[in-house]
Amino acid sequence: MNRCVSFTRILKLKSEIRLRRNVILGIETSCDDTGAAVLDLSGKLLGESIATQKTPRFGGVIPTISMLMHKDKIQNVVSEALLQAEKSMDDVTAVAVTNRPGMKGSLIVGTDYAKYLCKKFHKPLIPVHHMIAHALTVRMEEEVEFPFMFLLISGGHCLLGVAKDVNDFDILGTSINDSPGEALDKIARMLKVHSLPGLRDINGGPAIEMLARKGDPHKIEIGIPLRHERNCHFSFAGFKGNVDNLLYKIRKETGKNDLSEEMIADMSAAVQYSLTKHLCERLQRAITYIQMKEIIENSGTLVVSGGVASNMFIRGCIEKVCTEMGWRAVFPRPKLCTDNGIMIGWTGLELWRRGHDILHPDEALQLDVYSRCPMGRDVSQDVIDTGLKCKWIKIT
Ligand code: KG4
Ligand code: ZN
Repeated sequence: MNRCVSFTRILKLKSEIRLRRNVILGIETSCDDTGAAVLDLSGKLLGESIATQKTPRFGGVIPTISMLMHKDKIQNVVSEALLQAEKSMDDVTAVAVTNRPGMKGSLIVGTDYAKYLCKKFHKPLIPVHHMIAHALTVRMEEEVEFPFMFLLISGGHCLLGVAKDVNDFDILGTSINDSPGEALDKIARMLKVHSLPGLRDINGGPAIEMLARKGDPHKIEIGIPLRHERNCHFSFAGFKGNVDNLLYKIRKETGKNDLSEEMIADMSAAVQYSLTKHLCERLQRAITYIQMKEIIENSGTLVVSGGVASNMFIRGCIEKVCTEMGWRAVFPRPKLCTDNGIMIGWTGLELWRRGHDILHPDEALQLDVYSRCPMGRDVSQDVIDTGLKCKWIKIT
């Protein structure tokens, strides 16, 4: 009887040991969100926490304030994610952390904390590229195999490319100036949307989406950039300039400084429409290029992610373009499109499974941060050389 009990105990202990060290801790601090998440090695989300800075009330992200906010929140956010997962640092297999690209000060807060944890608890460290994380996160919840195409639209970037593996990317086009999120945030400030009821602490992008629902996208015309350039690059800075000119005209005509709510709604709808049309046109050329070069077979998958991809109007229009071209469009749920710790944990797990980019605990302290860092090979010149002309698909 006694032997039997102790045998059972040993089995239990063994399975406890096997069960320990079975999670990845992900940490994100590249911009204005302090995020952490705990995923088990099958990719199941066990715990997560996020502290989002109220940047609209400061008129945008201010790097020094952002860094201080991350410093203030990081410990609690990580503890909360572990607590929710009912895990301790002893259970962690590896720590994944964003180290590129992003605001240097903010990245340093996250990576320093990750280094401290790795040193103290003797854990491997996995550095993660923020935009790669945006591209891969959808694989956590949807069947998306390599190769797939991606369109990443965020507050810092606009990237159109092909993912061939977890560390193998071709970039067909990027923004030649601002990112789409940056343009929307700036235009929202120009339209003074944050003074409207309930919109004080909402980011410019989602505020414009909300207001656009009440507006007419075709009442005001805002030009669409790069229409005659046969490439897959983007340009968003011109939208601001166009809105600025329109505002000047309207103010001159009405003699009033502030726009009516109806006018703000129409302007929001027009901006959202033309920005979406621009995205769809570049995307259409990219799909045509990929099919022509047989990089992905006829009916491929497009992953759309990054904060701006949580916009339902943009999603609908992209879906329409994809359907007409015989492609499948896949979007992570909105919560996973904006910055979070889950995407870093998931990418850490993808790298862990492949054995890529894993730093031994003794090497962890040497990890650097990079405010800018390309994501893969630039093949945009080949797109230009192909000189593809497209007949644009109607989106609305
Ligand atoms: O990916 P993200 O959370 O942070 C960066 O990595 O930049 O993206 C933030 C950007 C902001 O510019 C925000 O205004 C925009 O995403 N955004 C949206 C929406 N939700 C967030 N833009 C348009 N429509 C939305 N629903
Ligand atoms: Zn992001």
